[in-house]
Amino acid sequence: MKGRYDSAPRTPPPQGPKHVVLAVDDDHNNLKLVSASLTLEGYEVVCASSGEEGLEVLEARQIDLLLLDVRMPGLDGLEVCRLIRAQPKFARMPIVFLTADNADVEHTIAGLDAGGDEYLHKPISRRMLSARVRNLLRLANADRERQLLLQVAQSEKLAAVGQIAAGVAHEVNNPLSFILSNLESLRGYVNDLMRVVRAYRMNSETGAALDRTLGLDNLMSDVSPLLDETVQGGSRVRAIVQELKTFSRQDTDTFEPVDLAEVARCTLVLTEREVASKATLVKELSMARVDLAPRQKLHQVMLNLLVNAIHAIEAKPAPPGERHTIRVSTRTENDVAILQVQDTGIGMPESVKSRIFEPFFTTKPVGVGTGLGLSVCAMVIDRLGGRITVESEAGKGTTFTVRVPCDAEMRPAPTPPARAAVG
Ligand SMILES: Nc1ncnc2c1ncn2[C@@H]1O[C@H](COP(=O)(O)OP(=O)(O)OP(=O)(O)O)[C@@H](O)[C@H]1O
Ligand SMILES: [Mg+2]
Repeated sequence: MKGRYDSAPRTPPPQGPKHVVLAVDDDHNNLKLVSASLTLEGYEVVCASSGEEGLEVLEARQIDLLLLDVRMPGLDGLEVCRLIRAQPKFARMPIVFLTADNADVEHTIAGLDAGGDEYLHKPISRRMLSARVRNLLRLANADRERQLLLQVAQSEKLAAVGQIAAGVAHEVNNPLSFILSNLESLRGYVNDLMRVVRAYRMNSETGAALDRTLGLDNLMSDVSPLLDETVQGGSRVRAIVQELKTFSRQDTDTFEPVDLAEVARCTLVLTEREVASKATLVKELSMARVDLAPRQKLHQVMLNLLVNAIHAIEAKPAPPGERHTIRVSTRTENDVAILQVQDTGIGMPESVKSRIFEPFFTTKPVGVGTGLGLSVCAMVIDRLGGRITVESEAGKGTTFTVRVPCDAEMRPAPTPPARAAVG
């Protein structure tokens, strides 16, 4: 049955495991108080009664947030905080100082300078503590999620490059072999020409005789097309290298005007031969300009959709005498830039279609698919206020449609890191 799914927000993920808070204080009553109040809020609280013990706990188990008394015998809170911040693995850990010191600016600044995020004065109100802890954990979670998505996007990009590496080797090898063979012919021609010039310099008769023997007229008419072909080959290699550079560049997220037609064209520079060897490639590339978008990421989206289309046609042999079709089209409709990748491949049953935007969902064998391609596509497009939708029929084929508002002003306010897209 034909159906549509999209990357629109889904139900929020179930609550994860409890956050773990480490409270370090030499005063047992304080520890009891803090622990009781945060346990009531649903946190797991681990207590340590000295700075040294706190450091041991931090090494031994996963802690999400640290509450640190300032004045303690042995290592005091400020020293503990400095020691923790000196370790890159704890650079992002939220740290809240709890202190009985006067609420003066100097103490607070000393705490913040040591690397603390908050400075709370005792007696601490239960509501204040709970609000600060909740806010800091929310920020830390958003930060962690962002880091994770960046990693996923980067590894996905590397995987995509890996997947096309063989194709690229072939792409570069072809023009290079005819460039080399043309240069070999041109070397022979130049040698013959020099021999004839030398002969003419001796006397015109010897020169004319050698000219005829070597068939200089034919040779000269051959030179120009050979040179043209060689230059074309070189340009092709340069275009491929240029395109590869886009993929290998670190993710800088530069936003610039991007035409989806151009993105499609560039991605096809790398893959066109491979696609054309397996299917009839139809290109309908009309202008589809988006005023501000990360070009690299859109290349990645296009490549992911194309690789999926290739896999889909490989999974279903074309009927005898027929060829599969992969159609890549771009256009603008009502201020929305549209990119479509359509294939006549294996298609998807409902059970697959409903899960394709889930990270790591794949029906492909290990080593072929990681299941990240479409979730990354959805994340990229979602951040541009766009949509990626799919229409598919098992055994018939699939169409992915990417829609992005042309004008950044028309986009909805950015959502928190892509939860809606990859949820
Ligand atoms: N054009 C298509 N035709 C049929 N099925 C598709 C198509 N595109 C995606 N799928 C299905 O969606 C699944 C998820 O696709 P996705 O691109 O996210 O991961 P993948 O292709 O399996 O692995 P990779 O991370 O290498 O891209 C695929 O395993 C496949 O079952
Ligand atoms: Mg894929």
